[in-house]
Amino acid sequence: MHPAIETSDLYGDRLSADLAGVRLLVGHTVRRIFSRHFGHAAEHLRSQITAPPTASGAPADVRATTCRNFRTGLLDYLLDTGALAADGERVRITDRLAVSATEQEEARALVAGEQRFVTMQEVLGLFEQQSAQLLSGEDGIELMRKAFGFSRMQEIWERLTLELPQRHVERTLGAKALVARMRAQSAGITVLECGAGIGAVLRRALEMPEFNARLPALQRYLYTDINPFLVEWGRQWFHRNAPPELIRRMEFRVLDLDKLPAPGVCEPGSVDLLMLDDVAHDAIDLHATLSQLHGALTESGWLAMTENFRQRPRDFLHVEIFAMTFHGYNRARLDPGRRDHHGFMTLGEWRRSLADARFAAPHVYPDPQDHERWPMGCIVAARAP
Ligand SMILES: C[S@@+](CC[C@H](N)C(=O)[O-])C[C@H]1O[C@@H](n2cnc3c(N)ncnc32)[C@H](O)[C@@H]1O
Repeated sequence: MHPAIETSDLYGDRLSADLAGVRLLVGHTVRRIFSRHFGHAAEHLRSQITAPPTASGAPADVRATTCRNFRTGLLDYLLDTGALAADGERVRITDRLAVSATEQEEARALVAGEQRFVTMQEVLGLFEQQSAQLLSGEDGIELMRKAFGFSRMQEIWERLTLELPQRHVERTLGAKALVARMRAQSAGITVLECGAGIGAVLRRALEMPEFNARLPALQRYLYTDINPFLVEWGRQWFHRNAPPELIRRMEFRVLDLDKLPAPGVCEPGSVDLLMLDDVAHDAIDLHATLSQLHGALTESGWLAMTENFRQRPRDFLHVEIFAMTFHGYNRARLDPGRRDHHGFMTLGEWRRSLADARFAAPHVYPDPQDHERWPMGCIVAARAP
């Protein structure tokens, strides 16, 4: 199987420059949050910074997990970037923690000159302002909903999904995988998209002339998400903006990746392309979900997943900062050997999880040697017998 996805237009100096901007804004926010809450003393014990673990045997509570992961994420990042230094259990603040006036000016100039950083900075500003709640494990989505109100929150969610540099890469990779399938199979394609949200992949595909030219190859596009509001929102958006040739092939359904099989949507052996854009890591029991998805594919079916491949903290927190505060991102059941992290996973964890669920020949984009600088990518895997 050769999906043949051309990626040279996505990975290069432009992306690196965009990500440098994201790193800068996120780095400043994290340093200020830490200073605000822990800057009163030059030294702390690790355990004073990370949340206390839940008592052994107690049921895992998602708020406690989010609290611990958020605090540990900040600590690891600050240690890895040298803003903190550790000596065993003791953690010391270094002179790199404070955000200087020059650095603040650099951030101001960046946001003023780049419209697409404005929304991101607005959310980072809220996170900084409400960091006490985040440090106690409050859901970042709830926090945004309370602060911005429902409709402004939806607008912000849509903008982040479309504007963040990593999301632009991912939705384009998803759209390219879709077009690659249309190139490989000239008729009767059934696509099941899970976690379709605002429909970023399909919206991106609509901007590609080849997708529109190959629409007759598509038989059925199942647009699904766990959130009924987003499914309805997507239905309305596509009815307003997509051509009739696409609309008449689309079905909009609520589908929870943790509640498979789903009769009528995910029948065994019925799907040619499974599209999971930035959602597979949300599955609670990933092995169960992947095994069910494997069964839904036709014999020659493909699974296409866009994901951020976990790197060391200093090269990763900037793509994880928003998601790591969401309760949905911290809900996974860990599965040592296959899944060692909540939320985004390493490429090694993905390879093991996919192999154990009988997916074969995974093509990874970009080349793994580039993941440190560009962790946002895509895996296309085939259904093994
Ligand atoms: C980070 S967003 C991915 C972006 C999305 N593809 C888009 O274009 O908006 C994750 C999406 O997955 C959905 N989701 C989360 N958990 C899910 C689950 N268990 N089953 C199905 N969808 C889920 C969320 O509602 C959200 O729309």
